[in-house]
Amino acid sequence: MIRVCISGLGKTGKEIAKVLLEQEDIKLVSAICSPNSDKRGNDLGEVVGCSSTGIIIEGSDNLEQVIFRTRPDVVVDFSSPEAASRNAKAFSRMKVNIVIGTTGFSKIGLKKLFVLANRHRNGIVYAPNITLGVNVLMLLTNLAANILNNYDFQITEIHHKHKKDAPSGTAKKIAVEIEKGLTASGSLDTNPKIPITAVRAGGVVGKHEVMIIGDDDKIEISHESFSRRAFALGAIRAIRFIKGKSGYYEMNDVLNLKKVLNDYVEKESNSFIKRYSVSINSNDVQAL
Ligand SMILES: NC(=O)c1ccc[n+]([C@@H]2O[C@H](COP(=O)([O-])OP(=O)(O)OC[C@H]3O[C@@H](n4cnc5c(N)ncnc54)[C@H](OP(=O)(O)O)[C@@H]3O)[C@@H](O)[C@H]2O)c1
Repeated sequence: MIRVCISGLGKTGKEIAKVLLEQEDIKLVSAICSPNSDKRGNDLGEVVGCSSTGIIIEGSDNLEQVIFRTRPDVVVDFSSPEAASRNAKAFSRMKVNIVIGTTGFSKIGLKKLFVLANRHRNGIVYAPNITLGVNVLMLLTNLAANILNNYDFQITEIHHKHKKDAPSGTAKKIAVEIEKGLTASGSLDTNPKIPITAVRAGGVVGKHEVMIIGDDDKIEISHESFSRRAFALGAIRAIRFIKGKSGYYEMNDVLNLKKVLNDYVEKESNSFIKRYSVSINSNDVQAL
């Protein structure tokens, strides 16, 4: 059983809490809100819209006591970059592992997470791109950039109007994957800059689209989350991964998609060789 605390009960955190409550191998043991939140003192079930859980939501000014009393193995954080980085210090000092889904960290903020994990030997997954689908999109765009290195790449991301950071952490990461693919292909442009357009409108949960445009044709790869449940499923994979580990990780470590791809290519080429040698043998037999 993995004991989990959730920090940040906004639009995403509430959905994640609901899905965590359904898991057989996960026990939600505590929930944290901001010090002045009106959720403080309420039962978690009441706040997320299910039956009573017995978990009373507490403020982040009580963090150490909550952790000491409820002893979580992993904290899942979907709050704000300021709160997440402040709280990560306390969690790390108390040797608790963390899955951080909160986005909008600066480069220095990210470096600090890396240093925290190394100093306190706890485990941290930094996952601004937590869904399996968007990670598959990143892998596909990396491959496409490697093969279509003379095409133009453009990223567009659309999120609801309340999302604070723009462009999204995921869009920036997709750009890095495209740049890696272009560089690995020996593309002449040694410092490619991929344009990103960010749209903030309505209630869109999250959409990322990559357009790959050549002189004669165009490819589009896109991913859209229909509900915040997709984030919860990613968070659960990250929780199961980080339990008992130490060090700094990202979602590509959790999902290990490059290994999945390598294994698939190897299996395919073995079965191709097998098919080919069988057809040679039968032809040989016929020639006799
Ligand atoms: N990784 C991904 O794939 C992914 C997906 C979706 C969202 N996100 C990110 O997750 C974060 C939250 O998103 P959201 O849409 O849920 O935003 P939101 O609705 O604004 O929720 C943020 C919540 O954090 C709480 N909070 C503020 N200070 C806190 C503190 N010190 N300790 C604990 N909680 C605190 C606030 O609630 P109270 O003041 O009531 O406590 C607020 O409800 C954002 O950074 C967003 O970009 C990431």
